[in-house]
Formats: sequence, C-alpha cells, structure tokens
Amino acid sequence: MHGGAWMLYSVFLDQRLVCFAVLLFFIPVGGDYCPPSCLCARDSGTVTCRGGEHPGVPGAIPDWASTLILRGNNLTTLPRWAFCPSGARRPLVTLSLSHNGIRVIEPHAFQGLTSLLVLDLSHNRLVSISPGVFSGLLELRSLNFNQSLAPLAAVQLVNALSLGEHLRSLHRLDLAGNHLTSVPLGIHMSNLHTLVLTNNSIQTVGRDHVATLYQRPRMRIYLSLNPFWCGCELEAFYSWLRNSSQVPDVGALVCSGPGARQGVRLEHLQEEELGCADQDLEAVSYVFLGLVLALIGVVFLMVLYLNREGIKRWLNNIREACRDQMEVYHYRYEQDSDPRLANVAV
Ligand SMILES: *[C@@H]1O[C@H](CO)[C@@H](O)[C@H](O)[C@H]1NC(C)=O
Ligand SMILES: *[C@@H]1O[C@H](CO)[C@@H](O)[C@H](O)[C@H]1NC(C)=O
Ligand SMILES: *[C@@H]1O[C@H](CO)[C@@H](O)[C@H](O)[C@H]1NC(C)=O
Ligand SMILES: *[C@@H]1O[C@H](CO)[C@@H](O)[C@H](O)[C@H]1NC(C)=O
Repeated sequence: MHGGAWMLYSVFLDQRLVCFAVLLFFIPVGGDYCPPSCLCARDSGTVTCRGGEHPGVPGAIPDWASTLILRGNNLTTLPRWAFCPSGARRPLVTLSLSHNGIRVIEPHAFQGLTSLLVLDLSHNRLVSISPGVFSGLLELRSLNFNQSLAPLAAVQLVNALSLGEHLRSLHRLDLAGNHLTSVPLGIHMSNLHTLVLTNNSIQTVGRDHVATLYQRPRMRIYLSLNPFWCGCELEAFYSWLRNSSQVPDVGALVCSGPGARQGVRLEHLQEEELGCADQDLEAVSYVFLGLVLALIGVVFLMVLYLNREGIKRWLNNIREACRDQMEVYHYRYEQDSDPRLANVAV
C-alpha cells in the first residue's frame, strides 16, 4: 500500500519535472529574448535591428547572438562601450553597422567585443575617428569602411590603424569609395592580405610606396576606378605593376590623362608613353644649353683678358677724345659769356 502510494507520487513528480522542462523550453529565461524593433533568428545566431520606434544600439542583446546587424538607425555617435554597457564581454563574431549615419566613433566604442572577426562600418558619414577606437579588437580579421569617410576622417583612420598592435590579426581592409588621394601604406599590419582601394582619387603611387609594395609580396591590393595620371611620376609604380601579380584588378586600371593617354588601360601602356624619355631629353637639352652659355661667357672673358692692352689703349684714346671735346666746349662757353663780345654784337 505504502509502496503504491510512493510510486504514484513519483509519477506525479516526474510529470512536474516534465512540465517544468517544457516551461523552461518555451518561456524565455535570463537574456533570452528579442529586443524591440529587432528580428531574432536563434538557429543562425543573428539579431537584426532596423531602427523604427527604437533607434540606437539595443541595450540588451541576447547572449546567444553571434551576429548583430543594425541598419537604418540614426546613430550619429557611437559612444564608449556601445555594445557592452555593463563592462561584460560579448561573444559577437560579426557586427554590421552600415547605413546608420554614424559621424563620430568615440574611443573604446568596441571594447568588450574580444571575439569579433568582422566589423562593417560602410556607408556611414564619419567625420571623426579617435585613435583608440580599435582597442580590444584582438581577433578582428575584416574591416569595412567603404563609402564612409570624410577627408579628415580618412587621415584619422590611417592614424588609428597605425597605432599599436590592436589589429594584429587584420586580413582584409576595405576603403573603397572614400576619395582617398594616396595609398595608405603607413599601416603596420603584417597580416594584411587584402587592401581594397577601388573608387578613390588616387592619381599616382610614389616611389616610397612602391618600395613598401615590394616589401609585402603577399598583399593583394585592388585599385580599379582610380584616376591614374599616366605621366612620368607613375614610372616606378608602372614598373612594379608590370612584374607583379599583387593587383588582381590590373586589367581595369585606366589612365585619366594626360592628353591622349586618357582612357588607355595601364596594362596596354608602353613605357615610352609615360614620357620619362622626353623628360630626360628635356633635362639633357637644358644642361646642354647651360654648357653652351657658360662656354660663350668664358670665351668672352678670355677675349677681354687677351686684349687688355689694346682695350686700355682704346679707353685712353676715348678719354683723350672726350677731354679734347670738353675743352672745345669750355672755350666756346667762355667766349659766349664774354660781355665785351656781347656789346660788340649789339
Ligand atoms: C537623424 O537625427 C537627426 C537629429 O539627431 C535629425 O536631424 C535627422 O533628420 C535624422 N535623420 C533621419 C534620417 O532620421
Ligand atoms: C561595401 O561594403 C558592403 C557592405 O556594406 C559590401 O557588400 C560591398 O561589396 C562593398 N563595396 C565595395 C565596392 O567594396
Ligand atoms: C564610388 O564612390 C562614390 C562615393 O564616394 C559613390 O557615390 C559611387 O556610387 C561609387 N561608385 C561605385 C561604382 O561604386
Ligand atoms: C620580375 O620578377 C622576377 C621574379 O619575381 C625577377 O626575377 C625579375 O628580375 C623581375 N623583373 C623586373 C624587370 O623587375
């Protein structure tokens, strides 16, 4: 009797357990919920937030989230510790912040995101990037800044990238469409494999930068849609390009000038067309002209020197002739001013 009652009780207990387990399964517990204005896909670990009624960075993000996509939010400023306000670490792997009108990124904005591999900041309007902005991103592999930078921000970004070893794992840097005028190669990122610089305003790549390119044979650099100025200044880069497989889009590099070279593909350009030979010739002809002028000068001085006796005599003659002439004038003047002679005339 007692045993039967106990059995009944344990079945009841099991049911309670099952019920509890079912409850556990269906009712979100702890940070396991979806922030307002966001879509949560737990199986892919993705949280997607599109502003709407709740703009800004969501305060609490589910713990399981590995990908966070914020889009169309009017963020303007990305504050310090934006994604880990409590100071905890967050296991995000991918963070996409494109199209959010971000203008300012404060230092330590990404602090706490120690597992982040991909950071997309493309299509924003950045005017200010502080030097310590990437601190804490120890694992970051891919960084997108395409069509995102105002001119000053571009300089600041290069500074931030050059600072310290925060981004020692960075493999890919996308800087397309930012009106950059030079190749940012001051960056000391030894692991950088891919540098995307398409659709910028790069006209030439100077000799010092070409030297850096020679030193980084593993790096791929994309350069199409830049207005290359195919004058003699481009010679070093041109020579490097001819013998390099580091520019995968080399077939799409086109000259923007000068003159008839506009629209010519760099690949099809002949070395003579860069005009360095003309420039050399010009330099040679200037040197030649200078030599001829110097020679004429020397000959002139020699003639003067050799004829110094004759010249002295000649100068004396002239002086004497002048003195004679002056005396004649003097005599006439005295005669003209003689009052007696004037009376005679009257
Ligand atoms: C973004 O916010 C600023 C003010 O913070 C406002 O002036 C602007 O109109 C907003 N833009 C959009 C697209 O909502
Ligand atoms: C710019 O970034 C976006 C991601 O926002 C990417 O899909 C696109 O391919 C990039 N464009 C270029 C030209 O690199
Ligand atoms: C190039 O960049 C400009 C802005 O910098 C953008 O408006 C344009 O669409 C881009 N072009 C291409 C082909 O990506
Ligand atoms: C081109 O590269 C090869 C090997 O990378 C080298 O042996 C050769 O001298 C280079 N030629 C020129 C013109 O730089």
